Amino acid sequence: MILIKKTNTIAKDAHLAIITEKWKNKPNYNLDNDLADHITKQLNDPEKKFVSLNHLGQHVYIIIVDPKKDTNATNESLRKTGCTICDTINGSKGKQITIVNNTLKNLNSLALAEGVALANYQFLHHKPGAKNLNTLNTVLVVDGKLKDDQVNKLNVLVDATCKARDLVNEPVNILNATGLANAFKDMGKKAGFKVEVWNKTKIVQQKMGGLLSVNAGSVDEPTFTIMEYKGRGAKNKKPYVLVGKGVVYDTGGLSLKPTPNSMDLMKCDMAGAAAVGCTMYAIAKAKLPVHVIGLVPATDNRPGFNAFAPGDIITMMDGSTVEMLNSDAEGRMILADALHYAKKYDPELTIDLATLTGAAAAAIGHYGIVAMGNAPEKHTSKLIASGFKSHERLAVFPFWEDYYELMKSDIADMKNIGGPYGGAITAGKFLEKFTNYPYIHLDIAGPAFLTGKDSYRGKGGTGVGVRLLFDFFANR
Ligand code: BES
Ligand code: MN
Ligand code: ZN
Repeated sequence: MILIKKTNTIAKDAHLAIITEKWKNKPNYNLDNDLADHITKQLNDPEKKFVSLNHLGQHVYIIIVDPKKDTNATNESLRKTGCTICDTINGSKGKQITIVNNTLKNLNSLALAEGVALANYQFLHHKPGAKNLNTLNTVLVVDGKLKDDQVNKLNVLVDATCKARDLVNEPVNILNATGLANAFKDMGKKAGFKVEVWNKTKIVQQKMGGLLSVNAGSVDEPTFTIMEYKGRGAKNKKPYVLVGKGVVYDTGGLSLKPTPNSMDLMKCDMAGAAAVGCTMYAIAKAKLPVHVIGLVPATDNRPGFNAFAPGDIITMMDGSTVEMLNSDAEGRMILADALHYAKKYDPELTIDLATLTGAAAAAIGHYGIVAMGNAPEKHTSKLIASGFKSHERLAVFPFWEDYYELMKSDIADMKNIGGPYGGAITAGKFLEKFTNYPYIHLDIAGPAFLTGKDSYRGKGGTGVGVRLLFDFFANR
């Protein structure tokens, strides 16, 4: 684990990253004269915005920022620079990096620290003998304007994001639905929020037909996890509800996915669940004054013995019927029951996160989150703003009622698949039928899991959603 700390002093020979609008050597940087001269020479070129030097093993980076540039864009570029710095420091087995904010404006020096810390993540649980262990363990930040509380929140957020990445990266033979629920219990104990887990017997009693239908082909039992955090002085009268898709593995069921392509990454199909659990963890650890409920229906989706067959008619928890024409459209089946259950909280707003459709990923790639819903502007605009701040951006899709027409069935209340077009939206419209409160649906199929390294987001599980929602709740 990496720790971010505030400090006022710069050690001699420390690895240094200086953020400034204009380069000027300062006595408190503690730099060798010839090194400072070298930097000055390089930065005589006004086009040059980044200098990276290795002076007898001391790494020094100068990052020139433009105060007129958009803040969100500057922060994202700092996070990416953080990744570059993290990689080079680890490359030379360094342990610490000192960030110095020498800008006049109130620039967020923590964006650079965030990039360094998130880039330092490695998933090596199953590689005990790994030789490429990152050595970097501390990010020191020299910034007079920085408050302890900001640093603390960033440490919490990095920890929570990495926890979400771990959960996503863990394969189903290590982490099944019960394992996922246990991980949430554990996080509840550590951070201080309530966690209740329903087992199969209880899920049957509660008639969660959608969740049970997906679980029918599986040997492992399903779980339904209910998390609750009510911060001291919670400002919202009605709770926010978060719902996460917890398909711990998606084979497609009897509508089997072709391999070796689309199935390989399907351990990531619980990324929505990971985001919900780890957001609960983050807001509880940071003691945010909000009241939030987290719901996670979880199971694997397999074509085992009694697997639901295309054509089956399923009675959902709310009593409505669904003609299940494709067992690979399983996410909406389990989410529907959770969204129905959420009604009992009379939520201020419900947000679900799900790796729901290939259509969402095809539409915008891993560059953002496909969003849609019927929530009032005051909520939507805040979430969109958090998207830009965290760079977990929302692409808002239409949510017209016309799309619902595509989900109608002749022999049941609904089908579980629509037509060939608008697949991300028809899935959202299906889910909306199980709500009676302000609702936002986030399809994270694109950004949840990366097959190649993308700067500080890394490779594999990204933990997408945690930073977005933390910002949303921190700014209530
Ligand atoms: N888990 C998948 C969606 C997915 C695709 C997530 C790619 C991450 C990356 C989901 O359960 C699924 O299979 N959706 C189907 C729905 C279709 C059958 C209506 C899809 O998108 O093909
Ligand atoms: Mn599927
Ligand atoms: Zn799925």
